[in-house]
This record gives sequence, structure tokens and C-alpha cells, in this order.
Amino acid sequence: EVMKEISGLKILEAGITEKLGISKVVVVPGDSDQSPWVKKELGRACVTTMRDRFHQDNIIAVAGGTTVSSVAEMMTPDAKNRNLLFVPARGGLGEKVQNQANTICATMAEKASGNYRLLHIPDSLSHESYQSMKEEPSIKEVISLIKDSSMVIHGIGDAKTMAERRKTAPENMNKIESSHAVAEAFGYYFNSAGEVVHKVQTVGMQLADLEKIECVIAVAGGASKARAIQAYLKKAPHTILITDEGAAKELIRE
Ligand code: G3H
Repeated sequence: EVMKEISGLKILEAGITEKLGISKVVVVPGDSDQSPWVKKELGRACVTTMRDRFHQDNIIAVAGGTTVSSVAEMMTPDAKNRNLLFVPARGGLGEKVQNQANTICATMAEKASGNYRLLHIPDSLSHESYQSMKEEPSIKEVISLIKDSSMVIHGIGDAKTMAERRKTAPENMNKIESSHAVAEAFGYYFNSAGEVVHKVQTVGMQLADLEKIECVIAVAGGASKARAIQAYLKKAPHTILITDEGAAKELIRE
């Protein structure tokens, strides 16, 4: 029975790798929309994938959300004692404190017995404040670490769910809806072709920076996220996807 289940997941992994045209997919059993423990399995699988790709020195940029938070919960110290420095991928996006990249970054670093640096900037900034904040030496230093990161861990969300969770201002809400956004990742909103239709203005990693990063891991599960995962990955082919059976079966069906 167990062997049958494992081979079923391997078939799903191969099918999705081909369908999405990405290099690697890991599928864990279950559907995180239905069972909360599946998020822990996503977290565990992500930690394993991260560890396989660590070098002696690592800068790991961590995005926000409940799924990346489970990655932090499942993190353990590195058996090979490699250097792990964790940074938040981007500044505030309007999330509750437990879903913020800063919070998750600190937790992940503590669980890994690694180091961390945080980005102390308010969530919504005027254009002028944003420009001057970027020039603050302490922020500039963290931004340059973020841009130098060797690994990025981020979630993928359904656009509407994320915009509502972040209490997005009405004008941006209209923009997100009228542009038919379906996916969200680290503060960017994407349509079904994987094109950016809106972004939350904040410092830190920008979408274009991802291309230069050696290892990009997206962790997202639940059948309700299938459409978002598919859309986002259309323009992000060098991403490793950690997902669950619920999302995977829906992805194959679509
Ligand atoms: O930034 C948030 C992610 O895109 C999705 O969040 O893991 O809580 O569903 P989640």
C-alpha cells in the first residue's frame, strides 16, 4: 500500500514537471486545504530540498505567508554545520505579524541555529519615503545581502485571497480584479499568463532579481491554489516546486 502511494506521487511529480516545464517538483501526500498537517509535510519536504542544496556559505531569503511559516517550524540545525544567514525577501506587505517575512525569517534562523538580519521598514510608504528609506545605510546593507542571496523560499497564493488577507486599498483591489489577477507571490500579482499586473511597493527582492538566484524554491499546496501555481510558474521556469497531492491532482486535470 505504502509503495503504491509513493509511486503514485512519483507519477504526479513527473507529470507536473513536464506540464509546467520546470526542473523539479516534490509532491507530498494529502491536501492542505482539507488537512492542516499537510502544511507541515510541505514544510518538511522544503527543508529537505533546501538542505540538499546548501553550500558552505548560504544567504537564504525568506518570504511571508502561512506555508513558509511551516517551513520555519520544521527547520532544524544543519548536521554539516554550514553557515546559514537568513534574510526577509521583501519588506512589509500588509500581513499580520505571524505571516510577515521578518517574523518567519527570525524563527527559521533560530530553529536552524543560524543568523539573521531583518528589514525594519513600515508596510506602506509614500514614494518619497520609500526612496529615502532605500538609501538608509542599515537598510541598504540588508538589501544588498538580499540581492546576494543564494536561495529564496517563497509561497504562492490565490490573488483574491491574498489581496483580501492584506486588507488591500480599494483602488488596488479594483486594479487586481480588473486585470484578472489569479496568483500572488512575494507581493507581486500575476494574471493567468504569469504576467505581473500589480506589485506592492516595498524594498528587498524584486521579481527581476530572482533570475540571478541559484536556487528558488516555491512552496504551495491545496487544490484551491492549482490555478495560481500554474499561472505563476509560466514565467518562472527555474523554480523548484514543493506542493501537495491536492494541488498536484488539480494541476494535472486542468
Ligand atoms: O505571500 C503569501 C503567499 O503567497 C501565500 O500565503 O502560504 O499563507 O497561503 P500562504
